[in-house]
Order: sequence, then C-alpha cells, then structure tokens
Amino acid sequence: MSSPKNNTVKEDVILDQTLRPQKWEEYIGQELIKKNLKISIAAAQERNEPIDHVLFYGPAGLGKTTLAHIIAKELNAQMKVTSGPAIERVGDLASILTNLSPGDVLFVDEAHRLNKMIEEILYPAMESRSLDIIIGKGPSARSIQLELPPFTLIAATTRIALLSSPLRSRFAGGIFRLDFYSQEEIKKIILRSAKILGAEIKEDAANEIAQRSRFTPRIANNLLKRCRDYAQLYNKSVIDVQITKKTLELLEIDEIGLVSHDRQLLEILIDKFGGGPAGLQTLAAATTEEAETIEDVYEPYLIRVGFMERTPRGRVATRHAYNHLKKFDARKKNNPEEDAQKHLL
Ligand code: ADE
Repeated sequence: MSSPKNNTVKEDVILDQTLRPQKWEEYIGQELIKKNLKISIAAAQERNEPIDHVLFYGPAGLGKTTLAHIIAKELNAQMKVTSGPAIERVGDLASILTNLSPGDVLFVDEAHRLNKMIEEILYPAMESRSLDIIIGKGPSARSIQLELPPFTLIAATTRIALLSSPLRSRFAGGIFRLDFYSQEEIKKIILRSAKILGAEIKEDAANEIAQRSRFTPRIANNLLKRCRDYAQLYNKSVIDVQITKKTLELLEIDEIGLVSHDRQLLEILIDKFGGGPAGLQTLAAATTEEAETIEDVYEPYLIRVGFMERTPRGRVATRHAYNHLKKFDARKKNNPEEDAQKHLL
C-alpha cells in the first residue's frame, strides 16, 4: 500500500491558501477552542503583550495550522513557519529564534518530531526568553546566553504523547485538542468552500460529501474539488448528488468515507489475525505501511467510527467493522446484513 499522506501534500498547500478561513467568523466549528483563544488574545492585547505559548493536537486536517494563522492575524503579528523535522541542529533553532521580531508568532508543525537536544534549548527560550547555547568544543567551549524578543510559540502535533512532559508544561497559553467536526459543520464548510470556488452545489450533494469526509475539513475540501472537476468535465453547471456519487465511487470512497487503504487494513486485521488483537508493528509489516501512518492517518477515524479498538494487547476489529465489510465474525457469530442496518453512525 502506498501512503495517501504523500499524495495529498501538494494539493493541500494550494487548497489551504484559497479555502483557509482568515478570521474567526469564517472558521466553522471548534467553538470552545475559539472562545478560549479569543479571551487570551483580547487580554494579552490589553496588556500589550504577546499571548502565552499554545499547543494544538489532534488528527491531521482538522485546522491546527489554520488556527495558528488566525491567531497571528488577530494579533497583527508576523508568523514564521517551521516544523519539528526541519530543525535538525541547535544552530537551526538559534537562527530562527534570533531572527524573530518582537511580537512574532513562531509556528512549529509536527512538534513531536523535534529532537531532544532542540527541546532542551526550547525550554528556557519559552519560559524566560533566553537562548542558552554552547559554542565550541572541549576545554575551549563557552556557554553564551542571548536574550530573545517577546514571542509566541504555537506548536501543533498529531501525537501529543510523544512530546516530553517538560515541553508540554511550558504551553502556558493552553493545550487544545481539536476534535473531529460534526457532519453539519462539515456541510457548512463545504458550502462555504463551494462559494469561494465559484461552484454551485446542491444541498443533498453537500450532505453526501459531508457524510464521506471523515469529519475532516481538509478531506471535505479535497472531495469537493474532485466533484467540481467531474462536473466540469461532463459539462454540468451544478454539482448534484449523482455527480457526487459518481466522483466518490471513482475514488473508491465508500458511504462512510473509508478509502481502499482503510478497508485493506481492516481486512488484513480480520483475515490474517482473526480480528486481532494484533500489535501495531505486526500490522504495519502485514500491510507494508509505516506504523506511524497507521497511527496518524487510518486509526483515528476507524476508532472514531467504532470499527477498531486499541487494547493493551493490540488492535482489534470490532463487530461493526465485520458488518461493514460483510465478514462473518466467528468470535461473535454475527449476521453482517442484519447488523449493518443496526449500526447507525
Ligand atoms: N476550511 C478548512 N477548515 C475550515 C473551518 N474550520 N472552517 C471553515 N472553513 C474551513
């Protein structure tokens, strides 16, 4: 299986630029997070200070980067963007931090991929705006301390458990978990995006896309664009439910948003491992996927829809997964046809 993660990177960049909400009023969903951030921003602005450092975590595509952009915009601040894997050496971080201007926002994506040495330099930088670095080696090594301008670090990660606890504890402005969106919110996002793209879409078509978007705005926007392509090629001026269904069928996205990779993963878990429990590494080897891709890309949604469970002994396919894939569950003697009707998502 090849990773869907890589295929979407370029497309996401373009999409994010045109469809990304620029201000709070345009950002749909995550209401509690927005409320908290608005308070922090207003209070900090009254004091004429930058807001405290903030950490966002949660599955990919839910809007962590978008929130960071909106915060920077609300603060009238410049945002510098980098990522955990891009900061390889202490010098990389030193150069980023010393080039910040007062009030800047530094956005670090994939923060769980920062190495330990970098994390340790970040602690004092976050806490007391001081950069402690050692120059030289051996007996001539010197430790120098540089004062940094006031800045706000906004970090984002899909894997909060991989962040060390000293790092986590320094996000005084809050640690916010982004949740999957409701279907209604996703529908609103689709309608907003369609307007921006100048594409006319029927209400039931928007519903159809929303139902198959894994409660994730990035996926909803991608699917909307694919439907628009299809409509354009077949000279249809409106995206209706037939076009939507045809497009999604071609993309092999089923009625609850599973793609072929999800189905293969579940099938392997069921057919090769009797439904589990199977360890993550075992599953990764059997599917030729990276364990990280399984954890970051497939699992969150499969768990969210109740098709997979994470147990101390490994991953387990649930009865709902058996029913959805029309598999007979010898463990529980199910009837796939009958049970599938009962499982309302
Ligand atoms: N596009 C992507 N995420 C969005 C959101 N949360 N609200 C509106 N449009 C979006």
